[in-house]
Amino acid sequence: MRLDKFLCDMQLGTRSQVKESIKKGLVTVNGTPVRTPDFKLDERNDMVTYMGQALTYQNLYYYMLHKPAGVVTATRDNHESTVMDLLSDVRGKDLSPVGRLDKDTEGLLLITNDGELAHKLLSPGKHVAKTYYVECTGTLTEEKQVLLENGVDIGDNELTRPAEVKLISQSDCSYIMELTITEGRFHQIKRMVQAVGGCVTYLKRLSMGTLSLDANLPKGACRPLTEKEILDLKQLTKTVSAR
Ligand code: URA
Repeated sequence: MRLDKFLCDMQLGTRSQVKESIKKGLVTVNGTPVRTPDFKLDERNDMVTYMGQALTYQNLYYYMLHKPAGVVTATRDNHESTVMDLLSDVRGKDLSPVGRLDKDTEGLLLITNDGELAHKLLSPGKHVAKTYYVECTGTLTEEKQVLLENGVDIGDNELTRPAEVKLISQSDCSYIMELTITEGRFHQIKRMVQAVGGCVTYLKRLSMGTLSLDANLPKGACRPLTEKEILDLKQLTKTVSAR
């Protein structure tokens, strides 16, 4: 890989900015200043420093965003704020959200430029579990709970796949549950609740596969995934399979 591309991938500036830095002698390879931007480098083994700081090659980036309500899940939008607007100051080219949360939905959103992992997590055949905290109007009878668990008609060709319901609380005209689904149909949770006669008033995603929303991450904030979180997700996409 060319030295200037390496530095661009590491988000150290635009191609012309990193070329300038190289020409100024701010970059060393294996201890020797290199002033030629097209210098060919073995990015896995050569030791590169920029202004004295050692750089470890990384071009795939993974972030957990605590999505607030009011922003759309898109990389860009002409009229609305997007989840990407909340990600200023992060490294990584071509980052995009993995799956969609509605504008009024909050909670866990994975953002990455690892297209392969994103594709596997979203693949309908993988059945990656997603757990939502759901506040609803109406009541959840045992009969309705069984319907949600076994599969309901939400107007598509097929019933929803089996889901898990954990009822948290219930009053005369509203209830709160955690609902785990293994699909990602359009407005799926809202349509499932409608199918049993209620309406979602608040929706928050708590987890996706092995990745759980960090309880210490404020709404609107993001943080890089830990090595373990990345490995666990990759491992999951190998083991979760079509049933
Ligand atoms: N189901 C919905 O209805 N909305 C979401 O944002 C996510 C799942």
